[in-house]
Amino acid sequence: MNYRIALDGPSGAGKSTIAKRLSAELGFVYVDTGAMYRSIGLYCLQNGIDTSDKAAVTAALPQIDIQLKYVDGEQRVVLNGTDVSKEIRINEVSMAASKVSAYKAVRAFLLDTQRNMAKTQSVIMDGRDIGTVVLPDAEIKIFIVAAPEERAKRRYKELIERGQNVPFEEVLADIIQRDYNDENRAEAPLRQAEDAIRLDTSLLDFEQSYNAVLEIAKKRMAE
Ligand code: DC
Repeated sequence: MNYRIALDGPSGAGKSTIAKRLSAELGFVYVDTGAMYRSIGLYCLQNGIDTSDKAAVTAALPQIDIQLKYVDGEQRVVLNGTDVSKEIRINEVSMAASKVSAYKAVRAFLLDTQRNMAKTQSVIMDGRDIGTVVLPDAEIKIFIVAAPEERAKRRYKELIERGQNVPFEEVLADIIQRDYNDENRAEAPLRQAEDAIRLDTSLLDFEQSYNAVLEIAKKRMAE
């Protein structure tokens, strides 16, 4: 049997790190849907398309091809033939992704690709609307949250480790702004599915968060 694990929650709650390790442990494919929105954001930045201009972003979609590839178990994101896995992680792209993800046409553009990936294989898919819109029938749904300050601390550490020197206040303000955008947009806003299990990782370290998710998944799969 194929399983679908939907992992949703705000940015910086630890979804992707948990999902990556869990996919290796369970032998499932990890699908990072945020990377797809980021690629569209990056395309706009690279091509001078104003991400606040819905019509311009929508008009650009036919020129965009996004593929997720797996190299040694690692997901690589390929935008129009170029591996952009690294570029899509910079701060500017995060905000661009948050903006373009509010547009209906952008969400529709990615929906089939996301659903198709879960048709023939067991997946762990992380995002904002996986349990509510993309895979409403997923066998396992987990909604991961953490306090904004805690998420900003984690994100700040990550950026510093990558050599990006951004002030902490800016990282926190970005997180609060992105939460607002993600929760208040009309299309597929960030919210917990009714049948999702909520996990607050504010007071948990990575190991504890990971074990909590693993336990939820294993319990569900044994049912
Ligand atoms: O998870 P992330 O930070 O890489 O996501 C980048 C942006 O994409 C985020 O601001 C919200 C958006 N997103 C979305 O709207 N729906 C998803 N399923 C995944 C991400």
